[in-house]
Amino acid sequence: MSETYHRVVQASDIEEKAMLPFVVNRWPLFLCREEGIVHAIINRCTHAAAELAPGGKVRRGSVMCPLHGARFKLESGECLGGTGYKPLKLFPWRESDDGWIEVAVPDEAPGMEHLPVKALV
Ligand code: FES
Repeated sequence: MSETYHRVVQASDIEEKAMLPFVVNRWPLFLCREEGIVHAIINRCTHAAAELAPGGKVRRGSVMCPLHGARFKLESGECLGGTGYKPLKLFPWRESDDGWIEVAVPDEAPGMEHLPVKALV
């Protein structure tokens, strides 16, 4: 699956612990920063398809889903706590010389395996 980098936001606009949602080439994702490190992660929980941002929380190296509280590691997307939910998809990113965060998303649209039907709650 080929992918392309897209400019998303100025790096200086991502505050510590903030979760900023975007849609990039039809892929919903959020950018966050913890201990100075930026993460680009799909904005859809693998449990029941809730959006993680806005409403989720970033702390201690993980993001917590606002709907039922599942936590996922920022570095790997792995679900914590033994629930067995699938890991979150992570996106490669880079910072340009002029301070933009550029995120690589697949050129193809996301499929149902990436964006399950949203929970009816
Ligand atoms: S939808 Fe995220 S924990 Fe249930």
